[in-house]
Amino acid sequence: MSIESHSFQKMIYSAEDIAKRVVSIGTEITNAYPSDADLLLLGLLKGSFVFMSDLIRSLERPIQLDFMVVASYHSGMTSSGEVQFLYKPAISIKGRHVIVVDDIVDSGATLNQLCKSLAAKEPASLEVCVLLHKHVAVDLEWEPRWVGFGAPNEFLVGYGLDHAENFRNLPFIVSLLN
Ligand code: IMP
Ligand code: MG
Repeated sequence: MSIESHSFQKMIYSAEDIAKRVVSIGTEITNAYPSDADLLLLGLLKGSFVFMSDLIRSLERPIQLDFMVVASYHSGMTSSGEVQFLYKPAISIKGRHVIVVDDIVDSGATLNQLCKSLAAKEPASLEVCVLLHKHVAVDLEWEPRWVGFGAPNEFLVGYGLDHAENFRNLPFIVSLLN
């Protein structure tokens, strides 16, 4: 599906806006940790993969990375309230400086449950970095320390964000107004 087939769309952030901001977040993250800190970045698939790949190249700290896949039905939680992982890193996060990387915070439900579950595994530190934040979440227990941009409360696609799996490849972020 091409983006032109959506007749109502609005440019939100250009490729240039994104590139500049990703570099500046990289600098903020670099400066937040001592030079010998070993960072572990955990990206939520699939939405974070484009952001993650650019972000890591602007970090000047030793890093390792992995991804997580969380079930989205029942808000991704089991009946016990635990987040349901379809894929989680094999390595231990205990004692590591962990940064969860996601594309966008909407209701915040995913991050709330995920961070609670990760915090229980005793990382040395746990922070969240998101590209976009709609600022509509109520009861957001884990406020992201690094936010690329505020986002309008609209449906956004591009730079990893999808609509029915389409448009992840767009180098910019647009709103689908339909
Ligand atoms: P939350 O748990 O409601 O915060 O859901 C966040 C997840 O929903 C994000 O990681 C995205 O995968 C998806 N999402 C939320 N808003 C949008 C949007 O505007 N466009 C594309 N995906 C979105
Ligand atoms: Mg997502």
